[in-house]
Amino acid sequence: MANIAIYPGSFDPITNGHLDLVERGLKIFDHIIIAVAKNPAKKLLFDVEERLEMIRVSLAHTTRVTIDSFSGLLVDYVRSRNARVILRGLRAVTDFEYEFQMAMMNRRLEPAIETVFLMTGLRWVFLSSSILKEAAVHGGNIQGMVHEFVYQKLREKFNLT
Ligand code: PNS
Repeated sequence: MANIAIYPGSFDPITNGHLDLVERGLKIFDHIIIAVAKNPAKKLLFDVEERLEMIRVSLAHTTRVTIDSFSGLLVDYVRSRNARVILRGLRAVTDFEYEFQMAMMNRRLEPAIETVFLMTGLRWVFLSSSILKEAAVHGGNIQGMVHEFVYQKLREKFNLT
């Protein structure tokens, strides 16, 4: 059985921090499926098709990665892909509580599935999609924190010239 990990998230939008995590994950797993949550419990800027497109473009030159979307429970999706591992990134202690809760709930719902955490590269510990959008909406220069395509998409979304 191939060593597959599911990397779920909102990816609203995908940042260089996410890309860093995929690279790290590929050192451990044969294949990573990036699973975009269609309706996560938060307000989103981009719809699912836009988020998928930005991931596709950002990872155009990366092999061993599949991009997909899911709705409903994550553990049901993981099972449907015959996988056993959820991959998540940890930046700082502030991430821990939320990640811990989610991992424990997922374990309770499906004990056969394990969550594996990898530490994001130091360069990106400050970066989240939310803080990125916060900077971008006010015209802050976020170049170099996302793929150029994502940068352009954000500029379009916020009507920045
Ligand atoms: O990038 P995010 O927003 O931190 O990702 C959160 C996500 C999408 C992984 C999480 O909300 C999720 O798994 N949603 C699907 C519903 C579910 O199974 N939740 C976890 C158990 S309560």
